[in-house]
Amino acid sequence: MEKITVLTGAGISAESGIKTFRDADGLWEGHNVMEVASPEGWLKNPSLVLDFYNKRRKQLLAVTPNTAHKALVNLEHKYQVTIITQNVDDLHERAGSSHIIHLHGELLKARSTHNPQEIYEWKNDIKLGDVCTKKHQLRPHIVWFGEEVPMLDAAIEIVSQTDILIIIGTSMQVYPAASLLHYKKTNTPVYFIDPNPAITPKNNLFVYKEKASLGVPKVVAKLLE
Ligand code: APR
Repeated sequence: MEKITVLTGAGISAESGIKTFRDADGLWEGHNVMEVASPEGWLKNPSLVLDFYNKRRKQLLAVTPNTAHKALVNLEHKYQVTIITQNVDDLHERAGSSHIIHLHGELLKARSTHNPQEIYEWKNDIKLGDVCTKKHQLRPHIVWFGEEVPMLDAAIEIVSQTDILIIIGTSMQVYPAASLLHYKKTNTPVYFIDPNPAITPKNNLFVYKEKASLGVPKVVAKLLE
């Protein structure tokens, strides 16, 4: 079976109703990103950070996967598919995709501030005073700015072995995720779907300048031909 790797960013979940990050005002849901998504922000004001992610978690539980998430599942009829997502939502899982790597963590999990390996499924709010088995405060299971990306090596390995790469809805501005493209084999074709693509078409790089709900079903249909 040929291998397909799909790299997704916030744009694939936009049509489900989750905002992308880099809007014109440079704010993320009204916040400076470093206040709510960095270890420094957490040390300075943990309740603000918890409150921010509690709101994001509530919002996530109120939305559903869209046409683009669902179309990707069909690729599994013909290919060995791995989705590498920068998104912390669970919309690929709920759509039915089988192999998903979350580079930046998962909103529906909490982890110990003491032991990063101690991770819990978490659908409710995380509050100050919610603790792990060793009584340390829980935090969102999110990779913040300046933190290590534990799944990066696995993602590099998968991209380097893939036969086809699809990239959907990412501004390609955040490293190291954006650098994954450089690890593909030279002749691996790339399909890039984004209404405002950060990449120009050339040789085996095909750009679909449109929303995920339109572009993804088109690319999937082409690859299933
Ligand atoms: N369909 C497809 N793409 C879309 C759509 C849509 N309907 N709407 C917007 N986009 C595109 C935008 O054109 C943009 O290129 O989605 C992209 C969103 O870019 P960002 O907001 O920068 O999101 P992303 O690239 O996922 O950000 C990476 O930054 O803050 C961090 O950790 C966070 O994982 C996130 C990382």
